[in-house]
Amino acid sequence: MKVAILGTGVVGQSLARGFLGLGHEIVFGTRDPGGAKAKDAVAAAGKARAATHADAARAADFAVLATAWSGTESALQLAGAANLAGKLVIDVTNPLDFSGGMPKLAVGHTTSAGEIVQRWLPDAQVVKAFNIVTATHMVGPQLPGGPPTMFIAGNDAQAKRQVLDILDRFGWESIDIGGIEGARLLEPLAMLWITYGFQNNHWTHAFKLLGRKQ
Ligand SMILES: NC(=O)c1ccc[n+]([C@@H]2O[C@H](COP(=O)([O-])OP(=O)(O)OC[C@H]3O[C@@H](n4cnc5c(N)ncnc54)[C@H](OP(=O)(O)O)[C@@H]3O)[C@@H](O)[C@H]2O)c1
Repeated sequence: MKVAILGTGVVGQSLARGFLGLGHEIVFGTRDPGGAKAKDAVAAAGKARAATHADAARAADFAVLATAWSGTESALQLAGAANLAGKLVIDVTNPLDFSGGMPKLAVGHTTSAGEIVQRWLPDAQVVKAFNIVTATHMVGPQLPGGPPTMFIAGNDAQAKRQVLDILDRFGWESIDIGGIEGARLLEPLAMLWITYGFQNNHWTHAFKLLGRKQ
């Protein structure tokens, strides 16, 4: 399948390598397909190409949203909601506000980045996933204590099955927590992950749900 990775940062690069490992084709969506960042992302992924957001979205069977929150609306406008209509969009964003130095959530309690992205892409199947762990552990997480748990949220059952299958192949155990409004829980969980990271200067932890129902 063709996967559009919107965003050329560490998250996009890490997931691109993971999807290449599953045999998919990767096209990065970026504001500057010929620029240094796009070239770095293509080189880091291994076998990929870079294109405008619109070209990447149009070509894709499904997409990964891996943009800084402050640039997410703009990136999706460039991608074009129509080019993502009917497609799975895996939303990895965390709505972080860095204006005060330390990151804090820019939205929460009554909405979430996941729900806002679903509103911006009304005809796409948005699934929140991968936002509660560092980029380097998104694929093949090797941690003491065994496979960590990834929680996902989204409105479309088929799209979530596809994401659960991807997570399984990437070495996660995973739990579907329901509709996209579940992102209201997952984005604060990322803040907990970040807070622990800053307090301990440690960035390789992940969550695991123990005693889950079999
Ligand atoms: N870093 C992590 O370990 C991690 C873990 C979990 C979740 N997340 C979340 O995943 C997302 C990606 O993380 P990252 O660390 O890879 O992000 P990043 O490097 O900060 O940014 C990713 C991409 O966002 C695009 N972008 C930035 N400002 C933009 C703007 N004004 N308009 C349009 N596009 C813009 C850029 O793409 P181009 O310059 O190529 O256009 C950039 O390469 C973020 O929302 C982050 O909170 C990160």
